[in-house]
Amino acid sequence: MPRALWTVWVLAAAISLSKEGAPDQAHSLSCDPTGVCDGRARSLNAIPPGLTAAVKSLDLSDNKITYVGNNDLQRCVGLKALRLGSNGVHTIEEDSFFPLRSLEHLDLSYNRLSNLSPSWFRTLSALKFLNLLGNPYKTLGETSLFSHLPNLRILKVGNSNPFSEIQEKDFSGLTFLEELEIDASNLQRYEPKSLRSIQNITHLILHMRQPVSLLEILGDLLSSVGHLELRDTDLNTFSISEIAVYETNTWINKLTFRNVKITDESFSELVKLLNYISGMLEVEFDGCTLNGLGKFRTPVLGTVKYLGNVETLTVRKLTIPNFFLFYDLSSIYSLTGKVKRITIENSKVFLVPCLLSQHLKSLEYLDPSENLMSEEYLENSACEHAWPFLQTLILRQNHLKSLEKTGEVLLTLKNLTHLDISKNNFDSMPENCQWPEKMKYLNLSGTRIHSLTYCIPLTLEILDISNNNLNSFSLILPQLKELYISRNKLKTLPDASSLPTLLVMRISRNTISTFSKEQLASFQKLKTLEAGGNSFICSCDFLSFTQGQRALAQVLIDWPENYLCDSPSHVRGRRVRTPGSRWLNATGQPWCPPRAAPFSCCSCSPGFCATISTACGT
Ligand SMILES: *[C@@H]1O[C@H](CO)[C@@H](O)[C@H](O)[C@H]1NC(C)=O
Ligand SMILES: *[C@@H]1O[C@H](CO)[C@@H](O)[C@H](O)[C@H]1NC(C)=O
Ligand SMILES: *[C@@H]1O[C@H](CO)[C@@H](O)[C@H](O)[C@H]1NC(C)=O
Ligand SMILES: *[C@@H]1O[C@H](CO)[C@@H](O)[C@H](O)[C@H]1NC(C)=O
Repeated sequence: MPRALWTVWVLAAAISLSKEGAPDQAHSLSCDPTGVCDGRARSLNAIPPGLTAAVKSLDLSDNKITYVGNNDLQRCVGLKALRLGSNGVHTIEEDSFFPLRSLEHLDLSYNRLSNLSPSWFRTLSALKFLNLLGNPYKTLGETSLFSHLPNLRILKVGNSNPFSEIQEKDFSGLTFLEELEIDASNLQRYEPKSLRSIQNITHLILHMRQPVSLLEILGDLLSSVGHLELRDTDLNTFSISEIAVYETNTWINKLTFRNVKITDESFSELVKLLNYISGMLEVEFDGCTLNGLGKFRTPVLGTVKYLGNVETLTVRKLTIPNFFLFYDLSSIYSLTGKVKRITIENSKVFLVPCLLSQHLKSLEYLDPSENLMSEEYLENSACEHAWPFLQTLILRQNHLKSLEKTGEVLLTLKNLTHLDISKNNFDSMPENCQWPEKMKYLNLSGTRIHSLTYCIPLTLEILDISNNNLNSFSLILPQLKELYISRNKLKTLPDASSLPTLLVMRISRNTISTFSKEQLASFQKLKTLEAGGNSFICSCDFLSFTQGQRALAQVLIDWPENYLCDSPSHVRGRRVRTPGSRWLNATGQPWCPPRAAPFSCCSCSPGFCATISTACGT
């Protein structure tokens, strides 16, 4: 049954079940045949009447519902997902959710619930997701809310105000959560051990304006949380006096600071903290502000040797208000010796001082993309003995201008195999360039290049030159396995003999008009070809490439949906069809191209465009 009919049917059923059903409200709901009902943002002020067991998912977010009564959802025994977020719900009667034994997803966020009742949840043993964020409660109530929810995996609680207290019994009954988000922006009191009752939390997100009881909370989480994320916190005055970490068996391995404020002093304290948590392998700062000058010279740092065991350090969108007064970070150089992967994205980096590069003795991966690096500064960063183990360097979207100079500057990196210099503006390419000897991967996507030379290293196995202005590709690259050359202006496929080991080619969105069966066959090792979005001339000659090639669909990963005829004009925009299969017109009816040239050789039998035969003449 078409979708529209189903909607009408479900609504008719809904209205007939409920005499008092206000038709204008019922019309605000549209349901599909699988029972998914959408009633978002339709100014509803109550749950629509007459819902049945056929409803599997009910989305009533963004309305003006204020009240959920015991009978509103009485017949919804099949309901799996109920979304009531962003309404004005202030009251939910005790038995409102009682019949919803199959419910897996319940969203009550951003309403006006000031008291939470455990009786709402007592039959919801199938519940996996519960969102209670953004309701004006002060605490999670007098008794444990979640003790009847053994299958809960994602839980979101709290609000920016007035939620101010975490109590010991709040989370009892929960043993394993994949994600726990607590908006404790305004936390005043943390009852010791409150978060200890959950034995295993994969990812905990904690919003806090001030680090109230942060160390105590951390102490409770060390052996149960894998990834701790702190959001929107002012750590300007954070300090560790006596750390309460006695656990030897910590599980926590990743720490994220999102939109957090730190100073030089509190950064030093964080480094101290890392040294207490031996399992910490990864630290991430996202959208943070450093109110300091990089002057991390506190006595604290004298007592620690490294950034704990941290191997991966990620910084994105760091703001340093006093950027122009910034020191050279030399106080922390000696701490970086064990770090293997560093990402510093979009943070106005223009230089990694040579001395720091030399200290980064274990570094394998460096990604300063979206910054201000130019060849001159890069030369200082990649100085003699810099990053001796570096294999991957991502300089995407910086201020590089010359391929020749970039290659030359990087010659110090003997172990470099992967280089991404995409989205820089090189424009042209010199005849020859020098590159580190082991280079296997080069990304030159989006660099405004319009022709290729043997500046491209012959050792490459993967080359991305998509999104440029290339008219042709004629390089001989004996070891190339993957060629990405989409979004250029190529008119034909490259010559297979110059790419003898090619396995993958992505050449979509060029201006290729045709290729033949023989041409495809000449790429003997090709396993994957993406060539859609070109300007195909749907002549019988072209269509023949699809003929009798059973394996074609396995090689052409975007076949048939991205293969459209560009000409002749009467088939423009239609999918390229395999001869013998049906062409369909806009209403899905069998259709035959007119028998005018160049289709004169394609004979039509009713509903089919018959097999191409050069001799047909019909
Ligand atoms: C928590 O659960 C995950 C996934 O089931 C498991 O891999 C991990 O070892 C558990 N951690 C602890 C501390 O029990
Ligand atoms: C490169 O890596 C190898 C081991 O993979 C190591 O022995 C060598 O010292 C590294 N550095 C240089 C400059 O070759
Ligand atoms: C090359 O870089 C672009 C972005 O700059 C990225 O989208 C693309 O995936 C990269 N290519 C490969 C083959 O990794
Ligand atoms: C599609 O084909 C059918 C049968 O040939 C025809 O009746 C119909 O008008 C066509 N529709 C369009 C939009 O071309």
